[in-house]
Amino acid sequence: MKTVAPLCLAVLLASAGRAAAEAPACRRCVAVYGDTRTGHEAHRRIVGRILALKPAAVFHTGDMVSNGYSEADWKRFVDISSGLMSTAEFFPALGNHDRHAPLYFSTFKQDPKTPWYSVDRFGVHFVVLDSESPFWKGTSQGTWLREDLAAASAKPGLRHIVVVLHRPVYGTGHHAPDDSTVLGPNLAPLFQKYGVGVVFSGHDHLYERSQVDGIFYVITGGGGAPLYPKQEQPAAFSQVFKSSYNFAALSVTPEGLLCEVFDDAGTPLDSFTVKPRPVPAGAK
Ligand SMILES: [Fe+2]
Repeated sequence: MKTVAPLCLAVLLASAGRAAAEAPACRRCVAVYGDTRTGHEAHRRIVGRILALKPAAVFHTGDMVSNGYSEADWKRFVDISSGLMSTAEFFPALGNHDRHAPLYFSTFKQDPKTPWYSVDRFGVHFVVLDSESPFWKGTSQGTWLREDLAAASAKPGLRHIVVVLHRPVYGTGHHAPDDSTVLGPNLAPLFQKYGVGVVFSGHDHLYERSQVDGIFYVITGGGGAPLYPKQEQPAAFSQVFKSSYNFAALSVTPEGLLCEVFDDAGTPLDSFTVKPRPVPAGAK
């Protein structure tokens, strides 16, 4: 009978304990960008920068095209994005310019009745919402969202909950202050209750990072559409604002979910880490 030397056993146990305590590592394995629409050359540059990172999953925050009913618009979007769509899982969020059009659903093979969904990747629960459909309590999407967040928050293996939707919940750009009056009161309490760490939106063509009640609210709407300037509406929750084309790259690290943001030339714009949510009670 073979025996394990005490020193080796100690090393094995320490190694196993470390592995159990650490989140699954992934470096820049997820990319987020949005609002590509009419800026085709900037869109190509952003796609090229994302492709160079070889992400496993890509989330688009909506407004892929200018007119969701235009076949030419979708043909150009697919032409520019085909490298990403063929090498990574591509997860779209529906934007107002996508218009719930049949071409949106056929392009992404989604059910028009439920343009909201969630996926788990790398120990992260991603919730993708349709901000063009009702989401408040009692609606189809609202009921689904509450059930999905409750189930995800009870899973011990999921250390982060991330939300992706088109319209911004908080921000200081062109659209955000108006959208915030509807989305903030309806969604922020839910995000708080179920431990959402970061929310990615688009709609405003810029980059902005805000933080409200400990949750990061990121607007990454700089995928090609004409950039918006900074509005002269100071808000204490706004931490970083760049009128730049941009995309975000996510890494899962032992410290948390690292979010690095770059412009279309590859220049870093921002970097922050979302702490893992606490392990659910009874799951330790
Ligand atoms: Fe939009």
